[in-house]
Amino acid sequence: MSVRRLHSEQPASFEFSAENLDWAKHVIGKYPEGRQASAVIPLLMRAQEQEGWVSQPAIECVADMLAMPHIRVLEIATFYTQFQLQPVGKKAHIQVCGTTPCMLRGAEDLIRVCKRKIAEAPFTLSEDGNFSWEEVECAGTCVNAPMIQIFKDTYEDLTPEILEELIAKIEAGEEITPGTQQKGRIHGAPAEGPVTLTDPSLYDGSRVKYGLGKDMGKDMGESHAKPSAKIETADQKPVKAAKPVSAPAKTSPPKKTPEPAVKTPAESAGDAPELLKAPVDGKADNLKEISGIGPKIEEKLNAMGVFHFSQIASWTEENCAFVNGQLSFKGRIEREDWIAQAKVLAEGGDTAFSKRVAAGEVESSKSEGDK
Ligand code: FES
Repeated sequence: MSVRRLHSEQPASFEFSAENLDWAKHVIGKYPEGRQASAVIPLLMRAQEQEGWVSQPAIECVADMLAMPHIRVLEIATFYTQFQLQPVGKKAHIQVCGTTPCMLRGAEDLIRVCKRKIAEAPFTLSEDGNFSWEEVECAGTCVNAPMIQIFKDTYEDLTPEILEELIAKIEAGEEITPGTQQKGRIHGAPAEGPVTLTDPSLYDGSRVKYGLGKDMGKDMGESHAKPSAKIETADQKPVKAAKPVSAPAKTSPPKKTPEPAVKTPAESAGDAPELLKAPVDGKADNLKEISGIGPKIEEKLNAMGVFHFSQIASWTEENCAFVNGQLSFKGRIEREDWIAQAKVLAEGGDTAFSKRVAAGEVESSKSEGDK
């Protein structure tokens, strides 16, 4: 756990604004006599919202309002990492989640954007004082990783390009919309729409074994009635009960056949895009210059017959659905906007990502294993 101390430079004093003071009194009044200390976190949070950070005078002011020793409130403010103990960016303090799911999906690239656009070190103000950043632990939106939090809102499904765009909009005073930044995705729902329980036969009754007609009881009786060991009546010889329904004979599990590298068009949704037997003039483009394509995906694309940026640039929605099905990476094409990237690259241009690949800064584009 990091050591959290008060900032070396502190303001001379702190006062709640009139509106916040009314609010604070109301919150304190919610607790029974002698339990006012329970309001300490809401009050510290309000002080932070007012000033942007929690200073020593703010801590002391809150302690006095709650009749608490200053040290007790200091302990709380320095323990919980949601309290900023130094001035943060006036327009945004960007908290980048660096925990495993976000890290695996590109949090390090987001941190590189923060370093480039804001300041090399966390908790450092940008030159104009408008931005600062830090790396934080899981913020609970892992299904939309990678993500950032700015004040109380989260921005999810980010790429470095989207983060740069968000920073530019904040800088320009434009409104930004919290939540997923992936076009077409609804909150944390599967990126490509429903992927489970989609078989219509689940809902049309065709899977119901027993009809609802007069034979239902009979069928069920035959299959499910529990036989007793023996049935004896006064005028009958003992009869053996019907054999219990035997458990299905053990069968050895079907042998797994290795998945073919490329599924047939019939096995994949959507329409196959234009595929080539070999690269034009025997030279394939470096598809790894597209953010989201690493060596393994490039290999699969080549195996399918995709070698050039121009092929990807011309994909339709149906083609994307087909390729998504082939790669078993649903939504990746749209999430990282391969098509827009491919269009730029096909015309001989560069993207921020392709420049980094060319400069050897993208590890996953050099090594085995996809990003
Ligand atoms: Fe980033 Fe959970 S790991 S939000």
